[in-house]
Amino acid sequence: MTVDLQHHGDRDATPGLVDLAVNVRLNSPPPWLAEVIRGTVTDLGRYPEPTAATRAIAERHGVPVEAVLPTAGGAEAFTLVARALAPRAAVVVHPQFTEPEAALRAAGHRPERHLLSPDTGFRFEAEPFESAHGRTDLVMVGNPTNPTGVLHPADQLQSLRRPGRTLVVDEAFMDAVPGEPESLIGQSLPDLSDLKGLLVLRSLTKTWGLAGLRAGYVVGDPDLVATLRSAQPPWSVSAPAVAAMVATATPAAVAEAAAAALEFDSWRSDLERSLAEVDLPKQHASRAPFLLIDTSPIGPGSLRGALADRGLAVRRGETFPGLGPTWVRVAVRHPAVSRRLAEALADVKEGYRAA
Ligand SMILES: Cc1ncc(COP(=O)(O)O)c(C=O)c1O
Repeated sequence: MTVDLQHHGDRDATPGLVDLAVNVRLNSPPPWLAEVIRGTVTDLGRYPEPTAATRAIAERHGVPVEAVLPTAGGAEAFTLVARALAPRAAVVVHPQFTEPEAALRAAGHRPERHLLSPDTGFRFEAEPFESAHGRTDLVMVGNPTNPTGVLHPADQLQSLRRPGRTLVVDEAFMDAVPGEPESLIGQSLPDLSDLKGLLVLRSLTKTWGLAGLRAGYVVGDPDLVATLRSAQPPWSVSAPAVAAMVATATPAAVAEAAAAALEFDSWRSDLERSLAEVDLPKQHASRAPFLLIDTSPIGPGSLRGALADRGLAVRRGETFPGLGPTWVRVAVRHPAVSRRLAEALADVKEGYRAA
């Protein structure tokens, strides 16, 4: 079955409905960050210069500047990977955010899919992967993965690395996991060989409410980073994005993100409890600010329409390879919103029973 790889949660967020479809934490950046961005306006007559952002990100992750490339969001990084590297046999681990595969296809590649199963909690394990795709030279995987929320163990991902293969890990949601365990750039990296064949992608979009700014970065193998840099259009990262990257790489900003991540952890537990009350017990472990739910115990097909009738927008599952219409992804929100979702699901369920 072909799926629409270009479908994203914002298209499911119908105006007027409570938005559980989009995973951005804030509707706008926090006031201190908005102030930093506004402060760049007077300098907009000049072309942007990314050096300050490169330095700040390098310092935040304890890597040399040659290992860092600021990008216009994670999305630009996917496109650079797809256009600048020349994989013979790319593999995308699904279900995951669909842009990595879309970017590879747009660049003329025909990636294979490695599908993780709900039966094993959507967990990635290196062994079945190698048996199926041992000859691949480019692997793209999300951690934690959108839409499943599963945080794969770093050692499983590390074990995929080998000469002649590039491992691309999309860590767009890693700063929403308290302490960032399992990040491949989380630990100190004593020498550059630790980055050989590795590219880790990060995004400022989700945690900082900056989808419209376009800000993200790559940390990884300096040779690969140089290849991506040579394919990047000039001035791709704007001056406001550079300022946001510098401001969010400070220890204070990292601590603020960590505090928000802790709050989301507790809200997610609350959402899980609310769902269990309507016979949707925890189906697999999510460490992300969203949950993927199989709603088939409540009713057949997609419940999106029924939930929209009750004022709630959720993200459809069927445009993720490996999932179908009974799956929906819901953003973790304040517990009051989670209770409203559970009540709406209970009501939908009652409707099916009465019919
Ligand atoms: C898992 C994941 N990675 C990357 C991105 C791209 O983020 P951006 O291009 O805004 O940095 C998204 C956006 O939805 C995402 O969900």
